[in-house]
Amino acid sequence: MQRTRFLGTGFAVPDRVVTNDELSRLMDTTDEWIRTRTGIRERRWVVEGETGTELGERATRRALDMAGMEAGELDAIVYATSSPDHFAPGNGVYLQRLLGIPTIPALDIRAQCSGFIYALSVADAWIRSGQYRRILVVGSEIQSTGLEVSSAGRHVAVIFADGAGAVVLGPGEPDHGGILAFDLHSEGAHAEKLWVDSPGSMYHPRVSPKHMETGRQYLEMDGREVFRHAVVRMPESVRSVLAATGHAVENISLLLAHQANLRISEVMQKDLGLRDDQVYNNIMFYGNTTAATIPIALDECVRNGRLKRGDLLVMTAFGSGFMWGSAAVRW
Ligand code: UT7
Repeated sequence: MQRTRFLGTGFAVPDRVVTNDELSRLMDTTDEWIRTRTGIRERRWVVEGETGTELGERATRRALDMAGMEAGELDAIVYATSSPDHFAPGNGVYLQRLLGIPTIPALDIRAQCSGFIYALSVADAWIRSGQYRRILVVGSEIQSTGLEVSSAGRHVAVIFADGAGAVVLGPGEPDHGGILAFDLHSEGAHAEKLWVDSPGSMYHPRVSPKHMETGRQYLEMDGREVFRHAVVRMPESVRSVLAATGHAVENISLLLAHQANLRISEVMQKDLGLRDDQVYNNIMFYGNTTAATIPIALDECVRNGRLKRGDLLVMTAFGSGFMWGSAAVRW
């Protein structure tokens, strides 16, 4: 049986840098609060006119370059986003159009912060079954347009941000490494602890002035509850995906965790007993870009030499749903 290999990686973020000081002029917050509670120093937010699929396209072109491939050689697109350009259709088809690829399948995955892990698992199954050979997996988000940028929304607005990451996957021989295992979970009992209520098809109409008056179109989060579950579920999932591969935690070369809050990553690192050189965090510069955090960090680690061929890579995420999961890869 063949294994799924990573042929190229890429990322793109908007040019506009939003500092903590800029946010403290827009709401009752401080650089000190944001840094100590979240680790974030700055993030990128789009300016009007920039779209998620455009960021996805820029990330894709870098990943294709690294893979030495043309867009026309792709067989399928799996696109993870919780903030699509439109309610329908999904971002996958808009990206397909931007890339100028005629009729390959393009599927959106809605698994929020865990979107990239879920998207990888779908692409991996397609590749290992032989259905498609070269698959583009993208995680991109525009969260800034769904934030309540005022004191009422400060517990969410200072965290979330915009960006995109992409990987090109293809089949390879098992002794050359590749994706080893996945661990995926969800628990809908907590759906409203991190969610966007409106627009929703259960409402007539889907979005109304009444919704907007009460802020139901904004991303809303019970931060403490999400934090409490995240620090348990991510280490649990890392242990479980490693068990499926026969490896122990000390064998991890690099852990890339969803960048939700630096404190969450630190608690997890301590729980797993990992050294600093076994983990990578970049939330300081990009904030929480939901489905894009892992592929952005992955591309940085590939290009800065933190990840080398033969390394044991584990990626893990937790977020809205709740949904969480991990992937183990022999790079
Ligand atoms: O991406 C997927 C999932 N998302 C996460 O994993 C995020 C998980 N949660 C978190 O990261 C943290 O819970 C937060 C960063 C959201 C909040 O940090 P916290 O240490 O849990 O703070 P808290 O909610 O317990 O609030 C502490 C205080 C409160 O004031 P009082 O009630 O103690 O007077 C908040 O009103 O901090 C206040 N606060 C702020 N103060 C200044 C909340 N947001 C802010 C803010 N600036 N931006």
